[in-house]
Amino acid sequence: MEEKIKDLHERRKKIKLGGGEKRIEKQHAKGKKTARERIDALLDAESFQEIGMYVEHHAQSLGMADKEIPAEGVVTGQGTIGGRNVFVYAQDFTAMGGSLGEMHAKKIWKVMDMAAKAGVPIIGLNDSGGARIQEGVGSLAGYGGIFSRNTHNSGVIPQISVILGPCAGGAVYSPALTDFVFMVDDTSKMFITGPQVIKSVTGEEVSAEELGGGMTHNEISGVAQFLAQNEEACFDQIKKLISFIPNNNLEGAPVKETADSFERSAEELREIVSDNPNKPYDVRDVINQIVDDQDFFEVQPFFAKNIVIGFARMGGRSVGIVANQPKFKAGCLDIDSSDKAARFIRFCDAFNIPILTLTDVPGYLPGVDQEYGGVIRHGAKLLYAYSEASVPKINVITRKAYGGAYIAMSSRHVGADYVFAWPIAEIAVMGPGGAANIIFRREIKASDDPAETRAKKIEEYREKFANPYQAAKDGYVDDVILPEETRKRVIMALESVIGKREDRPQKKHGNIPL
Ligand code: HXC
Repeated sequence: MEEKIKDLHERRKKIKLGGGEKRIEKQHAKGKKTARERIDALLDAESFQEIGMYVEHHAQSLGMADKEIPAEGVVTGQGTIGGRNVFVYAQDFTAMGGSLGEMHAKKIWKVMDMAAKAGVPIIGLNDSGGARIQEGVGSLAGYGGIFSRNTHNSGVIPQISVILGPCAGGAVYSPALTDFVFMVDDTSKMFITGPQVIKSVTGEEVSAEELGGGMTHNEISGVAQFLAQNEEACFDQIKKLISFIPNNNLEGAPVKETADSFERSAEELREIVSDNPNKPYDVRDVINQIVDDQDFFEVQPFFAKNIVIGFARMGGRSVGIVANQPKFKAGCLDIDSSDKAARFIRFCDAFNIPILTLTDVPGYLPGVDQEYGGVIRHGAKLLYAYSEASVPKINVITRKAYGGAYIAMSSRHVGADYVFAWPIAEIAVMGPGGAANIIFRREIKASDDPAETRAKKIEEYREKFANPYQAAKDGYVDDVILPEETRKRVIMALESVIGKREDRPQKKHGNIPL
């Protein structure tokens, strides 16, 4: 027995050393943790139980027959975050570059399947040279199995990808299929074809960081949702995200007690939002006034800044917030903001998280680029996502709500349960300026002082139509509320429909415009 126990200890020690001291030093020199250090930093202390430590590859050719790859280059298992069960895998770059061979992939499949059966989130820590070149199609099959699992698990359990090193070729598609992608500045890289291939094919010269670094994917491509300055900060973000979301599609999000009274009045809102519809403000200041403990966790803060999305709690319950951001592009809707909001709404709907919308939108961004880029197709996603969502949906129209953008932003017509409006709200087919130019064109042109006549007509239109009462008369707005009452009214509304059931016709699945 003693002999065998000693042998077990030695095996464990060897495997836990990954690719060895030298490669670990190299990893640390790049400011990166090892796979095991990452798991320890992410999970609750002592909570990790490893699965499949002794798995080995069985490749024979290209010098692989005698090649030892500790833990097959990926550490897999289960643990807890804030006491909540999660499954996790962490590619070990020190072990053959974390490259993905057939057995490496099978270890990942196993924890993905276990997470799906247990109904808990799966978190993948990616740091890999991609498909293990020596294993040929075996590695490609490995990736394929991950992608199909990502797809089947989508909307069943939350799937989180963390990019902590290179992630190239088709390997980027697993993160792209998951719900949230976290990246670390200067460490993470994602691209389909790297800088060298691009240079040889198109002649373009670009650094790896510029092409596929954390900021690139957070700000330009929209592939990633979170950016951190270092790995510790990245893990803190993941822990925070987990605190807002449920374990699976059949559960509700955890409720967090708060000392923040639901009746708290927020007088500051009158100062933050001017009744001059053209005066910008930061909608995050509005959100912080309304939500529990001023605790708003923004998602994708660098991409499509004209719309703000994120998680918060109202009376202890998690909500997903979607808000036009007048500080950027006047808060208009466009291709990227429609994509950003639609994907977030679908996540919330899949995981039973109610949606609070704050509407202050001048319309869709006009432009040839937008039309050629398919704003019709992309804008339709937002309509689709709101109409499809059957979770409680509450909308507060704080100021402007014009035209198609009014409909798209969680109006009654796409299924909002409650629509509130502030007294300064302007709900109309278009802004008073544009409307006056069209309907009073002749009178303005014929008058002695066209500028003055136009100003008068704009005011006339604003008084008659650009207010919340027309929509309230028709029942499209449920109540006109004071700004400071917003928190209380939203929480009361939320509580009243929290048990909402809304059926949709049986179908295989819808066909969202992509
Ligand atoms: C086998 C690999 C490997 C791979 C790295 N290694 N990538 N082994 N297959 N794909 C090994 C290296 O040989 C080296 O082994 C160790 O990992 C560390 O790699 P280094 O090159 O020393 O590290 P670094 O200088 O940091 O460079 C990292 C890298 C580079 C940029 C990722 O290794 C690289 O370019 N690798 C190849 C990337 C690639 O072309 N992958 C295939 C993509 S196609 P030793 O023993 O020396 O420590 C793909 C298709 C997926 O992934 C399709 C899915 C559908």
